[in-house]
Amino acid sequence: MSLQGAPGAEELVFYVNGRKITEKNADPEQMLLSYLRKRLRLTGTKYGCGGGGCGACTVMISTYEPASKKIRHYSANACLLPICSLYGTAVTTVEGIGSTKTRIHPVQERLAKCHGSQCGFCTPGMVMSIYTLLRNHPKPTSEQITAALAGNLCRCTGYRPILDACKTFCEESICCQSKANGKCCLDQDDDLFGKGEKIRSGLFSTEEFQPLDPTQELIFPPELMRVAESQPKRTLVFRGERMTWISPVSLDELLDLKATHPKAPLVVGNTSLGPEIKFRGVLHPIVIAPARVLDLNLVKCADDGLTLGAACSLTLVKDILKNAISEFPEEKTKIFRAVLQQLRTLGGEQIRNVASLGGNIVSRKSTSDLNPILAAGNCMLNLVSRGRKRQIPLSDIFADGAGNNTIMPEEILVSVYIPHSRKGEYVSAFRQAPRRENALPITSAGVRVLFEEGTDKIKDLNIFYGGSISTTICAKQTCQALIGRYWNEKMLDEACRLLLKEIALLGVAWGGKVDYKKTLVVSFFYRFFLEVLQSLKTMDPCHYPGIPMEYGSVLQDFQTKMPQSIQVYQDVEPGQPPQDPVGRPIMHQSGIKHATGEAVYIDDLPSVDGELSLAVVTSSRAHARIVSIDISEALKGPGVFDIITAHDVPATNEFYYSSDPEILFARNEVICVGQIVCAVAADSYVHAKQAAAKVKIEYEVLEPMILTIEIHIGGQEHFYMETQSVLAVPKGEDKEMNVYVSTQHPAIIQEMVAASLGVPANRIMCHVKRVGGAFGGKLLKAGLLASVAAVAANKTSRAVRLVLSRGDDMLITGGRHPFIGKYKVGFMNDGRIIAVDVEFYINGGCTPDESVLVAEVSLLKMDNAYRIPNLRCWGYACKTNLPSNTAFRGFGFPQSALVTETWITEIADKTGLSPEKIREINMYRENEQTHFKQQLDPQNLIRCWNECMEKSAYYSRKTAVKEFNKQNYWKKKGIAIVPLKFPFGMATRYLSQAAALVHIYTDGSVLLTHGGIEMGQGIHTKMIQVASRELNIPMSYIHFCETSTTTVPNACASVGSAGTDVNGMAVKDACQTLLKRLQPIINKNPKGTWNDWIKEAFIQSVSLSATGYFRGYNESMDWEKGEGQPFTYFLYGAACSEVEIDCLTGDHKNLRTDIVMDIGCSINPAVDIGQIEGAFVQGIGLYTMEELKYSPEGVLYTRGPDQYKIPAVCDIPEHFSVSLLSSSQNPYAIYASKGIGEAGLFLGCSVFFALRDAVTSVRNERGLKKTFTLNSPLTPEQIRAACADDFTEMITNDGCASSTPWAVSV
Ligand SMILES: Cc1cc2nc3c(=O)[nH]c(=O)nc-3n(C[C@H](O)[C@H](O)[C@H](O)COP(=O)(O)OP(=O)(O)OC[C@H]3O[C@@H](n4cnc5c(N)ncnc54)[C@H](O)[C@@H]3O)c2cc1C
Ligand code: FES
Ligand code: FES
Repeated sequence: MSLQGAPGAEELVFYVNGRKITEKNADPEQMLLSYLRKRLRLTGTKYGCGGGGCGACTVMISTYEPASKKIRHYSANACLLPICSLYGTAVTTVEGIGSTKTRIHPVQERLAKCHGSQCGFCTPGMVMSIYTLLRNHPKPTSEQITAALAGNLCRCTGYRPILDACKTFCEESICCQSKANGKCCLDQDDDLFGKGEKIRSGLFSTEEFQPLDPTQELIFPPELMRVAESQPKRTLVFRGERMTWISPVSLDELLDLKATHPKAPLVVGNTSLGPEIKFRGVLHPIVIAPARVLDLNLVKCADDGLTLGAACSLTLVKDILKNAISEFPEEKTKIFRAVLQQLRTLGGEQIRNVASLGGNIVSRKSTSDLNPILAAGNCMLNLVSRGRKRQIPLSDIFADGAGNNTIMPEEILVSVYIPHSRKGEYVSAFRQAPRRENALPITSAGVRVLFEEGTDKIKDLNIFYGGSISTTICAKQTCQALIGRYWNEKMLDEACRLLLKEIALLGVAWGGKVDYKKTLVVSFFYRFFLEVLQSLKTMDPCHYPGIPMEYGSVLQDFQTKMPQSIQVYQDVEPGQPPQDPVGRPIMHQSGIKHATGEAVYIDDLPSVDGELSLAVVTSSRAHARIVSIDISEALKGPGVFDIITAHDVPATNEFYYSSDPEILFARNEVICVGQIVCAVAADSYVHAKQAAAKVKIEYEVLEPMILTIEIHIGGQEHFYMETQSVLAVPKGEDKEMNVYVSTQHPAIIQEMVAASLGVPANRIMCHVKRVGGAFGGKLLKAGLLASVAAVAANKTSRAVRLVLSRGDDMLITGGRHPFIGKYKVGFMNDGRIIAVDVEFYINGGCTPDESVLVAEVSLLKMDNAYRIPNLRCWGYACKTNLPSNTAFRGFGFPQSALVTETWITEIADKTGLSPEKIREINMYRENEQTHFKQQLDPQNLIRCWNECMEKSAYYSRKTAVKEFNKQNYWKKKGIAIVPLKFPFGMATRYLSQAAALVHIYTDGSVLLTHGGIEMGQGIHTKMIQVASRELNIPMSYIHFCETSTTTVPNACASVGSAGTDVNGMAVKDACQTLLKRLQPIINKNPKGTWNDWIKEAFIQSVSLSATGYFRGYNESMDWEKGEGQPFTYFLYGAACSEVEIDCLTGDHKNLRTDIVMDIGCSINPAVDIGQIEGAFVQGIGLYTMEELKYSPEGVLYTRGPDQYKIPAVCDIPEHFSVSLLSSSQNPYAIYASKGIGEAGLFLGCSVFFALRDAVTSVRNERGLKKTFTLNSPLTPEQIRAACADDFTEMITNDGCASSTPWAVSV
């Protein structure tokens, strides 16, 4: 390609972890993430989404500015950083800050020892966010910590332990001191600790932590400093396979380049362009990187305002505005404040550190938070092209039509002018997003009014909205019509009417939520109206009365605060030997490796010689006949090796686990969007993906297409941080194959791979080291994907790697079943339930998977904690043309029990009694039978309930909530307490059998293995604790290598909270066998050491290897009779949550949660509390946030963290306490413990019911209908709609009936 004005290609020079990298063939399309992982083999930095939304790939970038001689450190997402942008920079990855080989960094140590990692997949990203924060602020404030972590997602921990680790670097006291005596509200010394029980709080000891010593950090490479200081900057050009990158240094050069290549986009942070190239396949042969041009980085502070270079990062803009606000009088900085307000929650820090002001403006996305406020604030754009300079109002670029209003292709945005505000001018910005932080807005707004001097008569008014249609829109006519009007209720009415007319939103508007968006349009304006009234009062209280007292609180936005937390558990018996680890809060066995990035996941395995990457081609139709598949174009793609279809499957393509099959490759017909049709094998994933896009499939659409079954409880995406991953390696003889896979069930992988290849199971060796989160999603689906990879490996005789992109994973693999519950409930006026008739309809998707089992479990567990004297319940697993749904933590219980709690609450509404009274009246009280006639002793249920009542001070807080609600009109609080009975069991004995294998080597070290899978729940840590107790040796003697079908055959899946219970029994059995064999030797030499005994045993030819076995629990269920003993024991718990809602936006804040949980005698309180908290936060996601959106044609829209929001740091309760019920025993499980993986998820619904309580109080105050339905997830959209008022009324009556909806509920 010839490039006018561009010199020859350069070497790319930068540093990674102190090592100089010189890349001769830098490809502009290559991002730092793949470069680190594939080229440099630094696999600590993880792939979680590829789009900047999860933070798993966080690294630190350091740059040196010779003029100021300053080094800047900032965090960034490696997945969106083109390597070409790194010239002259130093990159630090998790490997660069510490390792077990040298010295671990204090951040790594504390994160691990504070139990901040479970599956560990998010951990390197967390480490790097915290590390970068500490490089800039060695003693950070709590606000800086929560901000630094806002861009990092964790699906396992619920964030509390991660924040605990961060707090250890803080100097300020993190105690809330909200008790009258100055103590923390969670400090329960004086209430419950004094009952003579050996209760402990705190799960780690800070004393053992190394201090943070900033002098020990990697220095900025002196060579880079020297070069920056001595060599003048010169133009850089990098040429790749399809793209050329040009980075000029002067404005003239930039203008020349733009004039020559007007179509070439500028790239600064690549946060807008990058996702377009990656996810939409847009190709730009040339990109121009202007970040080194000084003019685009200048900052000018003048008397009338600020001029900011277009390439300034949003972080820099934030800092400059903060500074300016502190320097200028408030009157002048109203626009600055409003812009700053938006910047606080825009993206995460990693995004703000690289995203540019100019990029945000010029992208003109409707989701821009900045454009509405910059436009409303009369900001100006300084544009330059060759021979021409002009300044235009920013608002012009959103005016209708083209011409001079828009930026010309050859024009560059050099800088942005933000004016000072004036006397009599009021400016505000608003946004509402699905999550408060790091989420694109559903609607944003910028509003500015200028009054005629000394009056409240409107002289000028600007109103801009974002998030509505394709770009920022201006309510021009409304503004014009209101000029000259006074700031009063009449003006407000008129404004709302005009706004709704002008900002027309069609039903198909992207993102849907049309009515909600309209409500926000007027609600935001109303909020501005109130703000201005209040400000007018402050200025002139005699003339302006301000707003009613009870309206005041709505003017304060919810803020993220550092959560206060406490964990309470029972201490071990005083007589327990110190070496015995059972019952102690032991760190996750892989914790340090998680934190150093040394923990190996499937995609971290080095590539095998000749390895191929697989990209799948999926159906784009929900129900259709495949007419033809044309692979000719795809086969011609660079690096393509082969294409695999159903015809290449040697044996089984359809697996019959029930009446309908699970399918590897679609053969003649597709039954959902996202079904795998074929797969491309190529030399790299990029090539495979490019070729996959060229496969042409012709369809003939078939009817009927069934998607919906009416909704009450939405589904949930697993969103495990490690996407589904397989590496299939043919061994070259006897049809043997090694399959490395991220799964919860190696035996089924082995079975399915063997069946699809038509070989006996003994040729397939399945290996699992660890899994980066699973939550039920890596069972049958992982089996299908492993078989797809194995078929490709078999056909090509090469190793094949299949790692799903986040988008494909979400599209293909299904998730939690959406439910509808229909019920009739008979009850007395005193609240007693007499009879219940309930039906559950379960959206199973296109294949059975485990849908019938989910239906069964939902029926068995639907009583939750209540005695129902007469019950009829039905569960229907429904087939639809959607991706097949599968197991998910809780397995039907979170859905069916939510239905139960809903009708319980409705009984309260009907009887006028409180929900907690109805719960208490109907709760199991004595030794009695469940609806399937299993005996149950609910003593601990009652204890949990009472303790939770007491610890949460429920009644006094309920009174306080009522008082708050009386005094606040637009903000309301709600509180709810919910009990939990979670039955443990599989209803079938053989499903809970387990085996273990323990070897003792002659040096005394022990190699332990069992059938359980480590997916974050700490099973290996617990198993080592068990072996340590049984063999009476320190944990450090025992090693766990991997779970494999070669060591433990036919192992049951790690599901249903049963892993520790059943494998623990097997490990204990194996250890006891070994100890029995050793006993004579020990007896003979009781003073000897472990090593002495082992050596002696070897000499005496005593076998030092043993298997252990557990037959499983005696469980059964007779579905004909509806009776049985499907469960072995029950877990109990209770949670009380308090929330605050904003009635104008539907937003809410989780204020406080207290959980009391009976989990028997905890083997490891740190791990168990981690499970409870993590599950609880996942439950908050299920019940209040996580929304899957399908098009009317069955296409999943929500395919990444940008659209599907899981809870982040900002969502966890401000006060969060978890207490394990003391003195609880369980005769059925190992060391009297209870399996805890799933139960806590349901307690997330306490937040749902607290929200419902807040909504009820709104409705009561407004005299609205007492009965109302709230579906799950209870999103801000639903809350806003339920808090009906004049504004929602306007929308209902605006006569704009929605056309075809954008999304359907399934
Ligand atoms: C995970 C994530 C979360 C986000 N969250 C939010 C959010 O909450 N709110 C929000 O408002 N935004 C959000 N964004 C968007 C982000 O703020 C913008 O993508 C960013 O500001 C664009 O800047 P950039 O430097 O990365 O642009 P680039 O991607 O580098 O470029 C974007 C476009 O701007 C053009 N351009 C850039 N500079 C100039 C210039 N000087 N002159 C002319 N044209 C130019 C380029 O030609 C290109 O087409 C988010 C983005 C991501 C990835
Ligand atoms: S992988 Fe980079 S942010 Fe998710
Ligand atoms: S530990 Fe955070 S995602 Fe698993």
